[in-house]
Amino acid sequence: MEVIVAKTPADMASAAAREVANVLNAKPNAVLGMATGSTPLGLYQELVRLHKKGELDFSHVTTFNLDEYVGLPITHPQSYHYFMHEHLFRHINIPPQNVHIPSGTTTNYRAFCEWYEQRIKQCGGIDLQILGIGTDGHIGFNEPGSSLTSRTRLKTLARQTIDDNARFFKNRDEVPIYAITMGVGTVLESKEIVLLANGKKKAEAIAAAVEGPVTSMITASALQLHPSTRVYLDEEAASHLKMREYFDWVQEKKPGAPQA
Ligand code: PGA
Repeated sequence: MEVIVAKTPADMASAAAREVANVLNAKPNAVLGMATGSTPLGLYQELVRLHKKGELDFSHVTTFNLDEYVGLPITHPQSYHYFMHEHLFRHINIPPQNVHIPSGTTTNYRAFCEWYEQRIKQCGGIDLQILGIGTDGHIGFNEPGSSLTSRTRLKTLARQTIDDNARFFKNRDEVPIYAITMGVGTVLESKEIVLLANGKKKAEAIAAAVEGPVTSMITASALQLHPSTRVYLDEEAASHLKMREYFDWVQEKKPGAPQA
C-alpha cells in the first residue's frame, strides 16, 4: 500500500484524476471501477474538466460501479445511477452501453449479481478501481463482518452507514436498508486500486485500514492484501496514522528510487 497525503481535498482529487488519466493514456479501452458518495466528487469534476479540455477520451472506456441502493428507481436523486449520470456520465463521451451500475430494482438479485460478476470478467476485469471508505471502514457496502472473499451480493446496511448517509435524504427513514455491492473479493481482483478519503471523520477508519490488522471488521483493511493500492488522503484523514512520517519520507525519496 502506498499512502500519499495531499495538502487539500482538491490536490487529492487532481492526483487521483492523474491516476485515471495515466490508465486511459496507456489503455484507452480500460475498465474503470467507480465509487459514489461525497469523496470522489472532486475527482469526477477533474475528469470532466480534462475531458472538456480534450485531454481525456472515454469513448472506449467501460465502467462498473461498486454499489447501488435497493429499492430506489434510477431517477431517484439519491440513487447511484442518478449520481453517476449527474456528476460524471452526462458530461463525458462514454457510450451508455459501456456503463454498468448494479440494479437496485431487479426482480432477481441473485441472478443479477451473478451476471454482474460475469460481465466484469467478460470485459477483462477492472483495470483501476476507485474507492471511498465508510466511517465503519467499509469499501463498497461491505459492512463490518463481510467475508473478505465476498462477491457481488445483497447486503443489509449497518446502522452507522444509514446514519452517515441520512444527510443526503430528507429524513433517516428514507435511507434504504439494503444495497447491492461488489464484494471484497471482487474489489481485490482489480489490477490497480485507488482509495480516497478526506476529513477528520475518516481518520480512525483510515488508520485501522492502513495500519491495523487485516480483518473483516474493517473491510478496507483487506486492501493490505492487494499488490497495487494507493491511498490518497488529506491532512485530516491522515491525522491518526502512526507511520505518517515514513509515508511522507517514501514520497520524498521516490524520485531518486531506481526505476527498474
Ligand atoms: P462518502 O462515503 O464519500 O460520502 O464519505 C464513502 C463511503 O461510504 O464509501
